[in-house]
Amino acid sequence: MTQILDYILQRRSIRKFTDAEVNRETILQILQAGMAAPSATNRQPWEFVVLTERKPLERLRRVLVLGRYHAPAVIVVCGNMRRALPGPARDFWVQDCSAATQNILLAATGLGLGAVWIGIHPIGMLKKGVSLAVGLPKHLIPLAAVYIGHPAETKPPRTQFDPRKVHWEQVGTISPADTEPE
Ligand SMILES: Cc1cc2nc3c(=O)[nH]c(=O)nc-3n(C[C@H](O)[C@H](O)[C@H](O)COP(=O)(O)O)c2cc1C
Repeated sequence: MTQILDYILQRRSIRKFTDAEVNRETILQILQAGMAAPSATNRQPWEFVVLTERKPLERLRRVLVLGRYHAPAVIVVCGNMRRALPGPARDFWVQDCSAATQNILLAATGLGLGAVWIGIHPIGMLKKGVSLAVGLPKHLIPLAAVYIGHPAETKPPRTQFDPRKVHWEQVGTISPADTEPE
């Protein structure tokens, strides 16, 4: 239990990587974590495109204008609209795939790797560029690209806990912490 809390605090966006490869077995372990995520009605509306070769990585990097990092592996997390829920629940695919993405980041951290989440959906230009770069069929929407590699930078673990963002019972009430004597 304490270990998972440690990994949650240790997880930081790592954007500098060594040239060392991430082997296929490790990537599969990370994907096991991704697909352990919760999803609305357990639809699992996700697909994962793994890039490890130079040319596909370069094609992706070119379109990710806010994420041109050099990592040996990228996982593009996509929502599968053929598995998305019908009607007003359709957009739950975003939470489902975000949960998978966070699991991927935590698994990478736990395995001693570095990773960073690059947002794609809902930015139209990025969605289009990534879909073309990776060759996605129409029913797959790219949510995020996760760069993964051996870290070449370190960042301290941290929370950004802010008691002002915690609302007990209802918004506007004074939290018990605020009422305690100094
Ligand atoms: C939806 C989303 C989109 C993000 N997009 C980018 C991005 O395009 N480029 C980037 O370098 N980092 C991106 N990040 C990482 C954030 O910048 C990072 O999580 C934030 O600065 C907090 O730092 P930390 O991850 O080290 O805690 C994104 C994170 C999320 C959750």
